Amino acid sequence: KILILDFGSQVTQLIARRVREAHVFCEVHPCDVGDDWVRQYAADGTLKGVILSGSHASVYEETTDKAPQAVFELGVPVLGICYGMQTMAHQLGGKVEGGHLREFGFASVRARGHTRLLADIADFTTPEGHGMLNVWMSHGDKVTELPAGFRLMASTESCPIAGMADDDRRFYGVQFHPEVTHTQQGRAILERFVLEICGARPDWIMRDHIAEAVAAIRRQVGDEEVILGLSGGVDSSVAAALIHRAIGDQLTCVFVDHGLLRLNEGDMVMDMFAGKLHAKVIRVDASEAFLGQLAGVGDPEAKRKIIGREFVEVFKAEAARLKAGLDGAHQGAKWLAQGTIYPDVIESGGAKSKKAVSIKSHHNVGGLPEQLGLKLLEPLRDLFKDEVRELGVALGLPPEMVYRHPFPGPGLGVRILGEVKKEYADLLRRADAIFIEELRNFIDPATGKSWYDLTSQAFAVFLPVKSVGVMGDGRTYDYVVALRAVQTSDFMTADWAELPYALLKKVSGRIINEVRGINRVTYDVSSKPPATIEWE
Ligand code: XMP
Repeated sequence: KILILDFGSQVTQLIARRVREAHVFCEVHPCDVGDDWVRQYAADGTLKGVILSGSHASVYEETTDKAPQAVFELGVPVLGICYGMQTMAHQLGGKVEGGHLREFGFASVRARGHTRLLADIADFTTPEGHGMLNVWMSHGDKVTELPAGFRLMASTESCPIAGMADDDRRFYGVQFHPEVTHTQQGRAILERFVLEICGARPDWIMRDHIAEAVAAIRRQVGDEEVILGLSGGVDSSVAAALIHRAIGDQLTCVFVDHGLLRLNEGDMVMDMFAGKLHAKVIRVDASEAFLGQLAGVGDPEAKRKIIGREFVEVFKAEAARLKAGLDGAHQGAKWLAQGTIYPDVIESGGAKSKKAVSIKSHHNVGGLPEQLGLKLLEPLRDLFKDEVRELGVALGLPPEMVYRHPFPGPGLGVRILGEVKKEYADLLRRADAIFIEELRNFIDPATGKSWYDLTSQAFAVFLPVKSVGVMGDGRTYDYVVALRAVQTSDFMTADWAELPYALLKKVSGRIINEVRGINRVTYDVSSKPPATIEWE
């Protein structure tokens, strides 16, 4: 195993993720665990190496942390990243200077001295024959004097000691961040460290993670009962499947159907969780309450607020019932489980060591458990989205569910422009289902993938305007839907997808013929920005 000591960097979990991608087991612990803890952790001989993360702090601020000195006495390789390199230099007798201009962003680093860590790893070679790496730098302080036993490993113009190495003790420091994808050879460097230098065995797979996570959940909750809000989305579904695997009937899922779900979505969720996994699921049909609250409201933000508030109310009422043990078999739930994943934790500034700086608050984290007097269980807290998906598949969830496009919490509520009515939702559900079905059916010959998989998000939007059409001998005067399909990697910016005309033709033909009440289909060709992905 590899131990990652966290000094509070926003990207510490990315290091863990890269180590897992190399199929090596790792754990992240706070940097202040102490010498005794470290010695004990290493006592069974399975510890193969230590990575010291970055931080937002400076080594010379009074309050900042050092690595437990014991780390350097275990005889295992140590890699310090950014602040981790600085504290390593400082603790081993080198010098670090602060107060320099902060440097963020891309840099070209020259690899030096043929160290084991960087040997033969380069993005390009200069005419003089120097190996160069394109890296991501983010630091204020820098190492100005190497500790005894170390050699210069890398440098840039503004940072003469951008890397240092002691091949004998197998101690390495890099001022840049190999864990972020902007550092093109980052993966190769981390793999070199973990697999070759530490000699860790690449035998960790997602199935091992299930066993570890199951054991951890059992330890955490004991014989107490857990409630989970199941939305049908990827995160809550995977959390439900994992917790159910761990504690079976001690878990009760609450699935609030707000009447703004996609076609047959509620039945599919029930079929999967209650039917196939035999989990306890309470389906709360609250569609009338939601639609009642939404009547006459056209403003998008007001609609979102109503849906969010109503959702919390309905869920709280159900959770309170389960907590009180009103449901026959129940002793009374003590835990609220949430499918919080690592990017949610980062966004809300709640990274594990509580050292990462807060960026913005997130609806998934905090709030509800305190109000309900329940303890919080978040088994996906350390995982990234694609790891959550992989875990879902390993738990036996169908790939179609796990790789589904994202669906907003307010559901069709923000895809029916203006006032939401049941009639509109019913028409939209059918049009949307046809669009999605055809996207799944249409295979792109060049890639062999379906257009569903080639797009990041696709859906129909209901426009409450009527236009004239002809059908058979008659005139129609019906509603319009817009189709939206986008390609994006982060949902912050997006391009509209260049769907094949044949696909658009098929979809529009089917919607107009099969969904009585809609006589016109348009395709949205706006990119984000300036448009958003959703229409509201
Ligand atoms: P926009 O429309 O802002 O959407 O470009 C970006 C991504 O966020 C999703 N989205 C939401 N998700 N509640 C959610 O849970 C919301 O209120 C909400 N609004 C937008 C949207 O589907 C897209 O994936």
